[in-house]
Amino acid sequence: MNLSFKVTPWEVSGEVDYNQLIEDFGTKKITPDLIFRIKEITGDLHPLLKRQIFFSHRDVDWLLDQYEKDPNFFLYTGRGPSGDTHLGHLMPWIFTKWLQDKFDVPLWFQMTDDEKFYFKRNIELKESNFYAHENALDVIALGFDEKKTHIFSNIEIASHLYPVAALFAKKITFSTAKAVFDFKHQNNLGEIFYTSMQAVPAVLPSILVKKNIPCLIPHAIDQDPHFRVTRDVAPKLGYLKPSSIHCIFLPGLGKKTEKMSASIKESAIYTTDSSEDVKKKISGAFTGGRATVKEQREKGGNPDICSVHKYYYCLFMWDEKEYKQNYEDCKAGRIICGDCKKDLINRINQFLQNHQKKREEARRKLEKFWVTSDKLEDISYIWKK
Ligand code: TYM
Repeated sequence: MNLSFKVTPWEVSGEVDYNQLIEDFGTKKITPDLIFRIKEITGDLHPLLKRQIFFSHRDVDWLLDQYEKDPNFFLYTGRGPSGDTHLGHLMPWIFTKWLQDKFDVPLWFQMTDDEKFYFKRNIELKESNFYAHENALDVIALGFDEKKTHIFSNIEIASHLYPVAALFAKKITFSTAKAVFDFKHQNNLGEIFYTSMQAVPAVLPSILVKKNIPCLIPHAIDQDPHFRVTRDVAPKLGYLKPSSIHCIFLPGLGKKTEKMSASIKESAIYTTDSSEDVKKKISGAFTGGRATVKEQREKGGNPDICSVHKYYYCLFMWDEKEYKQNYEDCKAGRIICGDCKKDLINRINQFLQNHQKKREEARRKLEKFWVTSDKLEDISYIWKK
């Protein structure tokens, strides 16, 4: 275990070495062969895949084998709703939307209002449930199919989730939870139990239709420990192991390359930010520039350490030719940091203007996406049998 960085579902710190993480977590690197195979099936390649921003997976090759025999799987992802959505959260959701479009499959989206209540000191259930609804607007604004997308809050449909969580919980010992999550004496019982809730949607659609359906979970690599445990237990309960596909973290705007995090407000851009907020935050972002404009013109900048360039790379400059040109221009001193910042501010504000419009329209559509217990089949057969 490399101790110069830490990645858990609740804390990411230090400079993450993603190759090391693949080793530590025991996932697999996404190979050019796998990318080629996805392209063969979808007829397309999303920039987040082409650029290896989605870099790691578990059993996606197996999922594609199954898909070729029977094109029937579902997507599952989620959000811990403790505040507004930031651009980092959108990264896996944008990719999930692409997967839904290409494979034409359902998505189950879990809002873990219970998780945030257990893990965050200053949040009440009422508040995390409020954000479950607010964050759902961001999901809907990305254009998911209303007939195939099911968003739910753990608290609201607990009567359906709890019996399944109980099946998982009984198979997870405290020593496993402690080894995977490094729990201490001061962790509360909700925190220790919580993984069983995040495991449920990986099998719930199979339970609802009484037939095992493969599951693919897109997420950033921090959530993998939950699914390591889920994959371990699911077959013991008679269900399939879910497959998963993992992205790197969109970094914050500060000097350190740590992930964009809701707990460092000024380093994150929220989907609810005003154009002035964006201007202020990007203007103060860390770049790879020199001390003076003159020096930068002469010696060039360093795009490899620049947060503006990371934003281009991950979300805001997907055109390869344009990105390459910008990178070279920076290195050669043909453009300076002020130019890139101004341009990025425009790109983000354009994106947010459109997103915020769709987000408001989503308020009227929310009900179509929102799952309530009475919309779900009775699943009591799993414990009454
Ligand atoms: P949460 O709310 O921390 O994050 C939601 C999703 O965003 C990813 N993520 C990021 N991706 C890129 N760059 C970042 N800076 C960044 N920060 C967060 C997370 O990996 C996640 O995919 N426990 C979960 C909620 C959840 C879930 C799931 C997530 C429940 N079921 C299934 C993924 C899949 C959580 O608190 O996510």
